[in-house]
Amino acid sequence: MTTIPGNAPVEADIERVLVTADAIADRIVELAEELGRGLTESGADDEGIVLMPVMTGSMLFVSDLVRQLPHKLRLELALVSSYPGTAKESQGAKLNMPLPSGLANRHVVLVDDILDSGGTIRFLREELAKQAPASLRSVVLLRKPRPDAADVPCEHVGFEIPDEFVVGYGLDFDGLYRNLPYIGTLRPPGDTS
Ligand code: IMP
Ligand code: MG
Repeated sequence: MTTIPGNAPVEADIERVLVTADAIADRIVELAEELGRGLTESGADDEGIVLMPVMTGSMLFVSDLVRQLPHKLRLELALVSSYPGTAKESQGAKLNMPLPSGLANRHVVLVDDILDSGGTIRFLREELAKQAPASLRSVVLLRKPRPDAADVPCEHVGFEIPDEFVVGYGLDFDGLYRNLPYIGTLRPPGDTS
C-alpha cells in the first residue's frame, strides 16, 4: 500500500502509531458490512439512506466508508466544532451551520471520527430526532473509554482506543495532521528526540 514517505514533515511530531493505515482499511470493510446489516434491520430502502458526516474530522473516514457501501445513498454534512484551535478537551458541541432538513422518514447515519466525551453525538442525535427520521444510528471510527460517554448511543465502533489525544486520518490538533494516513499520538511539546 502507498503511504506518505517516511520522515515526511507531518510525521515528525508523531510519538506512536496506534492504528495503522492497513488496520483502518480492513476495519472499514467490516464496518460497512455491519452498517449494511443494521440498515436492513431498520427496514431501510436505498432511496431513504442519508449518511451525515460530522465535519471536518470524519472527512477521510466517510470517503473510505461510502466506497464500501453498495447502497444508493445521499451525503448531507453536519458542521460542528467542539475542539476549537489548540484545545485538547471538548468545549461542547457547537453547530457551525444549520443541520440539513427534510430528514423525516429517512434512515440517517451519523458518521464521526471519534467518540470522546460523547457530547457531539449526544447533541446531534437529540437535534436530528426532532425531525423524526425513520431510523437514526451512529458510526464512529474510534471510541475512548470515557465513563461520561457510556450512555451515548453508538451502534457501530471501529476501534476502542486508550484515553489519549490522537491525530491523523482526519483528526487534527490546531488544524494539523489530518492528512496522516494512520492514527497516532503526538510527542509532548519540545520533545525533539
Ligand atoms: P466529543 O464531543 O467529546 O465526543 O468529541 C468529539 C469530537 O471531538 C470529535 O468529532 C473530534 O473532532 C474531537 N476529538 C475528540 N477526541 C479527539 C482526539 O483525541 N483528537 C482529535 N480530535 C478529537
Ligand atoms: Mg469532529
